[in-house]
Amino acid sequence: MEFFQTPAKANRWCIDQRNTGKIIGMVPTMGALHEGHLELVKRAVKENDICVVSIFVNPLQFNEEKDFSAYPRNLEQDRIALKNCHCAMAFTGSLDSFFPRIDRSNITLLRPGAEANDLEGAHRPGHFAGVKTIVNKLFTTVRPHNAYFGEKDFQQTLVIRKLAKETSAPNIIVCPTHREKNGLAMSSRNERLTSNQRQQASVIYRALLAALSEWKKGVRGVKELEKAMVDVLATETDLKVEYATVRDPENWQEKNFNNSATTARALIAVTLGNVRLIDNMILS
Ligand code: PAJ
Repeated sequence: MEFFQTPAKANRWCIDQRNTGKIIGMVPTMGALHEGHLELVKRAVKENDICVVSIFVNPLQFNEEKDFSAYPRNLEQDRIALKNCHCAMAFTGSLDSFFPRIDRSNITLLRPGAEANDLEGAHRPGHFAGVKTIVNKLFTTVRPHNAYFGEKDFQQTLVIRKLAKETSAPNIIVCPTHREKNGLAMSSRNERLTSNQRQQASVIYRALLAALSEWKKGVRGVKELEKAMVDVLATETDLKVEYATVRDPENWQEKNFNNSATTARALIAVTLGNVRLIDNMILS
């Protein structure tokens, strides 16, 4: 596996690959790779001639400096895991190497649209502008044909799909959430939980299942669906709920669904200790 420390070198390598007609699949990541990330990588390996992975803890998308510094980093382990998955090339870089000779305060941020206004957008001001800006930069570095993202960050996939529409960006492929045995969605942030907290955090999955169960019984009122989730989350008193809600995945509106509605998305964000966790599930 090739490994480059700068986007400029990665870009040259990708241009050569494209010139020989290779179809490139890309998986953008912030590293500290777990099985969820590796599922995306395996799929990109399978569906393309070559798979490229970026590993960059993007400071532009962290609204709190201490969250950025506490974010786990395991570059050596990541390299080994990617090599074992037959990834062809991985690269990293610094903010400076992505935006040469531009002061951080002068970087032009790509602003997301209404899809980023609430939930994660409201709780993490500036987060999606940081995501959109860096993913655009990663796409122009690699120019992949296909790019793979996880459903776990559902609102992020809306922002990325919009970006792909606005630019001549790649096909966006959204992959299912990979979970621990107890249902907890895999996340790099889980590394910061104790084993007891990991067990406590599995309540998020059970809360989503409770909403699903109500939906299957025919419940369509947002308040009732939210209550089903909040009641389950309340059984873990160490958990602080930021939101537990339901959205129409098509137009991203919070509304009561009419009786014939066939699908919705339940979304949860909580903090446990000082770790923020998010998850979501399709209701259908
Ligand atoms: P990161 O959190 O490292 O996630 C990289 C990709 O892996 C994202 O598309 C994310 O949704 C996906 N992923 C994470 N956990 C997953 C799980 N349990 N199952 C399936 N997929 C999972 O998301 C980011 O990085 C950044 O915002 C990024 C897009 C790289 C831009 O900086």
